[in-house]
Amino acid sequence: METIDNVAELRSRLAVERGAGNTIGFVPTMGYLHAGHVSLIDAAVASNDLTVVSIFVNPLQFGAGEDLDSYPVDIERDLAACADARADLVFMPSVSEMYPPGMTTTVTVGGVSKPLEGQSRPTHFAGVATVVAKLFSIVGPCRAYFGAKDWQQVTVVRRMTADLSLPVEVISCPIVREADGLALSSRNVYLSPEERRQAPVLRRALLAGIELVEAGVTDHSVIETEMARVISTAPLAQLDYAAAVPADSLVADGPLRGEVRLLLAVRFGGARLIDNAGCRTVES
Ligand code: PAF
Repeated sequence: METIDNVAELRSRLAVERGAGNTIGFVPTMGYLHAGHVSLIDAAVASNDLTVVSIFVNPLQFGAGEDLDSYPVDIERDLAACADARADLVFMPSVSEMYPPGMTTTVTVGGVSKPLEGQSRPTHFAGVATVVAKLFSIVGPCRAYFGAKDWQQVTVVRRMTADLSLPVEVISCPIVREADGLALSSRNVYLSPEERRQAPVLRRALLAGIELVEAGVTDHSVIETEMARVISTAPLAQLDYAAAVPADSLVADGPLRGEVRLLLAVRFGGARLIDNAGCRTVES
């Protein structure tokens, strides 16, 4: 497995692959890889001739007071995980390599980036869209793989890819969970033992929401209230939002109909966890 930290070198290396007719699968990450990331690499390896993983803790997507400086890092372990999963190449640029001095261009996605995470973290999705657009431009993949845990992120990236006519297929892979239902996240490492014990409450709240939708409830506020109630049963949990919304627009503007996404953001001390689940309304 190769590692490259330089944009020009990566471009010329991948131009050779494209010239030889090889397809490139791309897995963008911020490192501290877990089994969820490995499932994305597995999916890329299964469908492409060459798999590129990027490891870059993107400062643009962290707001003031967020965890940029404490974001967990373990490059050696990450490289071993990429090699084990049979990735071909890991791109590990520095901040100055990704963001040359004087850079003033950013990518802002409207609509789907505004609610939910967009309310709690107003600069987050411009940071994500900017780095993903740059990475797509540098890597030139046919397919790019994202975890469904960040459902709104996948929705924003799909919107951006369509709006900018980027020739990349955006593939969302299922959430990987611990045995007790906690969604895998690099940020789970911030949880104290007691917070970790209580954290599966997010999954229980989502299951309670799904039960209501499947019982025919279409009023989003009833579903949101029930998910919030379940979250409140964990003494250390502080709810940021509980949302039951149409899966595509992410904004409820009347009774729910068709594909629904339930989304949660919950703080446990210094850790902010997000999770989500999909379901369908019962059509009458
Ligand atoms: O999901 C992540 O890890 C990041 O938001 C991403 C897509 C790698 C962009 O920095």
